[in-house]
Amino acid sequence: MRNDWYKDRVFYQIWPRSFMDGNGDGIGDLYGVYDRLDYLKSLGIGGIWFSPLYPSPNADFGYDISDYCAIHPDYGDLDIFKKVVARAHELDIKIVMDLVINHTSDEHEWFVKSRDKSSPYRDYYFWKKGKKPGKAPNNWDSFFENEAWSYDLESGEYYLHLFSRKQVDLNMDNPAVREEVKKILRFWLEMGVDGFREDVITFISKPEGLPDDRFGVGVRGMRLFESGPHIHEYLQEFRTDVLDHYDCFVLGEAPMMTPKKARPYLAGSHPDLDLMFNFQHMEADCLFTEYIPLPFSLPKLRRAFDRWQKDVPWTALYLENHDHPRIISRYGSEKYRVESGKMLAVSYLLQKGTPFVYQGQEIGMTNIALPSIDDYVDCMALKHYYNDVKKKPAEKVLPKIQKATRDNARTPVQWSADKNAGFSTADPWFPVNPNYREVNAASQENDPDSLLNFYRALIAFRSRSELVRFGDYEDLAPAHPHLYVYKRSCKGENLLVLCSFTEKPCHFRLPEDLSAKIADASLGGATGGMVPEIIFNNYPCDIAEKEFTTRPYETRVYRWNA
Ligand code: GLC
Ligand code: CA
Repeated sequence: MRNDWYKDRVFYQIWPRSFMDGNGDGIGDLYGVYDRLDYLKSLGIGGIWFSPLYPSPNADFGYDISDYCAIHPDYGDLDIFKKVVARAHELDIKIVMDLVINHTSDEHEWFVKSRDKSSPYRDYYFWKKGKKPGKAPNNWDSFFENEAWSYDLESGEYYLHLFSRKQVDLNMDNPAVREEVKKILRFWLEMGVDGFREDVITFISKPEGLPDDRFGVGVRGMRLFESGPHIHEYLQEFRTDVLDHYDCFVLGEAPMMTPKKARPYLAGSHPDLDLMFNFQHMEADCLFTEYIPLPFSLPKLRRAFDRWQKDVPWTALYLENHDHPRIISRYGSEKYRVESGKMLAVSYLLQKGTPFVYQGQEIGMTNIALPSIDDYVDCMALKHYYNDVKKKPAEKVLPKIQKATRDNARTPVQWSADKNAGFSTADPWFPVNPNYREVNAASQENDPDSLLNFYRALIAFRSRSELVRFGDYEDLAPAHPHLYVYKRSCKGENLLVLCSFTEKPCHFRLPEDLSAKIADASLGGATGGMVPEIIFNNYPCDIAEKEFTTRPYETRVYRWNA
């Protein structure tokens, strides 16, 4: 039943609240999505991943689900969802849902019922007595709060939440919970969806007895529940019992994942997951998360890229999603917004794997800086802020939040220079980036040099090219501090991808074989087929240059035959 079509497509991620408001209440919705499907088609994408569309109290904007088999009224209803799926399928666009099963909302009826000790739902979650009065059952940390346990007065016990106290961890060891997961999978597959992006899926199996973490650095507990004892068993069960019976794929989000640890998930004829979202290449300017900032390091980025290209059979490629600040503001430069935006697009879209583009990335949206902490809504930012202001003056803390918060990626998409960036006729639920008059989709639509049209061309090229999708990957400058240079090759066809990650000039000399081919061609000699050419560039350039000095964030892609 299952096919490998996900290897041939570029996906687009929609974070629904900020994508497009179709009914004029200031909140993005499925009516807006329906309206923009042609735009997405024009970008060349072959699939959409929806961040959660389900009913949710929005403690973590949809990642706290209170009903898995419905649509949040802010976004529409099942009717409009079905229309979106049908129209997307007509356009040959696949639909991927977010499956958040590590935890439910505390407002989900399972959790509400589980407060009663005699309820069959009690064992859906991890309810435990404290070590002693006032002391949590273990020493684990939460990603969004300080402790991973909250005390429930009604129940007289603690419950586990690796994220916020409104995101309660499910007990996946309970077979009834696994049956619920299968029901949810079937519900959406029967409605025609084509796959799932599984939220923090590598955390769903907790160690027996939930012991203290005695060595933990960073988030305590993580090394115990990351790839926990039954993880492969549970993922296999979901595949065998449900996923294998549909033409769909599964993509797991996997914090702290390394290629070595990923292999058991991805290898073999019946892998647990088809793809993984790893985080290693998102740590080139920070440690673990954006909240521990470091200077940007190309060697760190390259190491992550190289290893995931070489050490796993297939991977998911991305530079942005709803959890990270905008990439131009991080690895590129707001001063060289368009140039660095193009370079960044090239840096990952020509790698091997299944690429994802996040809403607004294709038009070069950048971070926003809001004047006060009260303007921010990301629970992770709020945790860091309130912890840090205990130790440092607020004016020192706010700049770090402005840089690191996930809210940077969650501002409304900038469709035009009209009021509210064309996102909504009403006041948007969250501020629009004031740069929308300059940075918006409409103004780029007919400009052949725009970032939007660059993305279109790159995606179209990739979709036609067997070389990009399946060719070998080789790093040609493994030690350069600022230039990332890789070669792709397949059946005698080659690409050389040059990306400068600096505004400083760098000297670069083409490899001998490519130089020789170019020289041959200029003399009209035999080139074995195709004349070498530069197929993507962000500055005017001349193929005759054997060596040259790069301009800020320059990129060039050469194509030639061996
Ligand atoms: C994933 C999501 C993130 C969410 C977290 C908890 O990392 O991408 O947005 O906050 O899981 O569900
Ligand atoms: Ca709306």
